[in-house]
Amino acid sequence: MGSSSLCIMFMRVLFLVSLSQLIVLTHSSPSIQSLCHDDESSALLQFKNSFSIKRSESSDPLACPKVASWTLEGQNSDCCTWDGVICDEDTGHVIELDLSSGNLYGSINSNSSLFHLVHLQRLNLAFNNFNYSQIPSQVGNLSRLTYLNLSSSMLSGEIPVTLMNLTKLTFLGLSSNNFQGPIPSSIVHLYNLEVLDVYNNNLNGTMELCMFLNMKSLGMLDLSHNELSLLIGETCTNATLPKFYGLDLAACNLIEFPNFLKNQDGLQWLSLAYNNITGHIPEWMWHISKESLRVMDLSFNFLTGFDGQVPIPLPWTNLAILDLSSNQLEGSLPIPPSSTLRYNIPNNKLSGRISQWICNMTSIQMLDLSNNSLSGSLPQCLNKFGDSLLVLNLQKNKLEGSIPQTWAKGTQLRMINFSENKFQNRLPTSLANLMMLEAIDLGVNQFNDSFPYWVGIIGHFFKQTLRGDPTTANTT
Ligand SMILES: *[C@@H]1O[C@H](CO)[C@@H](O)[C@H](O)[C@H]1NC(C)=O
Ligand SMILES: *[C@@H]1O[C@H](CO)[C@@H](O)[C@H](O)[C@H]1NC(C)=O
Ligand SMILES: *[C@@H]1O[C@H](CO)[C@@H](O)[C@H](O)[C@H]1NC(C)=O
Repeated sequence: MGSSSLCIMFMRVLFLVSLSQLIVLTHSSPSIQSLCHDDESSALLQFKNSFSIKRSESSDPLACPKVASWTLEGQNSDCCTWDGVICDEDTGHVIELDLSSGNLYGSINSNSSLFHLVHLQRLNLAFNNFNYSQIPSQVGNLSRLTYLNLSSSMLSGEIPVTLMNLTKLTFLGLSSNNFQGPIPSSIVHLYNLEVLDVYNNNLNGTMELCMFLNMKSLGMLDLSHNELSLLIGETCTNATLPKFYGLDLAACNLIEFPNFLKNQDGLQWLSLAYNNITGHIPEWMWHISKESLRVMDLSFNFLTGFDGQVPIPLPWTNLAILDLSSNQLEGSLPIPPSSTLRYNIPNNKLSGRISQWICNMTSIQMLDLSNNSLSGSLPQCLNKFGDSLLVLNLQKNKLEGSIPQTWAKGTQLRMINFSENKFQNRLPTSLANLMMLEAIDLGVNQFNDSFPYWVGIIGHFFKQTLRGDPTTANTT
């Protein structure tokens, strides 16, 4: 997995975490006075005792064995005071159980006492180790659930059809487990579902994308990185569509841009990466969700170019990440808006000069234009990128002329790669100002310089590589 997709995944986790915290803040109402029902405290203890607590079982460094403090002894015998348990203030029933990152290890069985807690509205068991057991169909007994999070918990088997009994669900998180088989079509009868996340399982089968577009409340849909094949039917184009803020259809075997995206004006996150989409990026794609879009990932497809005129800059005013890497894009380099933090478009066939407008991305942190056919000299304004730039990768293009002569003091640059181009003339001594530099690669160019004395000055700070030998100049 490339560093860019790792980064996207990281952003994605942050996005989901902030989303779930938002939901927690709006729903939880901790209770102090209420007294736990006996049958519920014994169900909780039974549930606790069905697992062993293993410190190492969660990948989360903040994991804490919440159930360890659960006991009927002493002052803390009221289960409503137990870690991770929230009771209704009026009825005393357990309405919320949050044992995420709880170091639980063992199987969830169909006779688990968990399913006696029928008043539960929110259940979070994410980041535990359920030893590849299945979700028992009895989960359908918990019909008051609005929130169910079983992500990253080593569950396997099929997604039970009884989930359709949970008609109040708003959030369903099943990501990063080992679920197999199809997504039950009955899942669309979870009428109020706002978030459906099955990212990173082994779910398979061919499904109509329309099926999900019938879920009117859906705001976030993540079907990415399974073995699913999504078909884009004609029939759903006229339906009243959900208004998505997050849509991740990476690696869903898509072969074209889903048409319904045309009418999405509130997307913050869109990934169609790792699909089999061929041909041009349609002109309308540049104009969807102009104000809301933060992340756009079309990497690892077979895109060959752009329909019509590509606007300069691209019109998403709040864009943070644009990833178009590893396609077959021809034509000139699209210029993202000034808000952009990361722009990755390596491994394409872009040609022509780099427009000076690229320097308008004054917050850019990571710029990767490597392995294209970009030519001409670099805009000398590149040093305007300023303090935010961490990575600048121009490797393997046809760039020529001098590299910019002034590099500001105090810049954060960690990695520069100018190798495999046709850069000429002298190396700027101001590169010695880049105190944070860990790797610089200037190899295979046509610099005319003696071995740069300043390498000795900044070499001290290098942690990784200095490759390339600028003394082999004039080897045209
Ligand atoms: C985990 O699953 C294996 C295989 O099914 C089983 O033998 C083992 O007892 C289970 N361990 C626990 C702690 O449930
Ligand atoms: C780039 O920035 C300059 C100065 O802020 C502005 O005048 C110009 O319109 C911008 N151009 C583009 C294409 O963003
Ligand atoms: C390389 O630089 C030297 C010294 O500045 C100069 O005399 C020479 O003409 C240059 N060679 C080329 C090919 O530019």
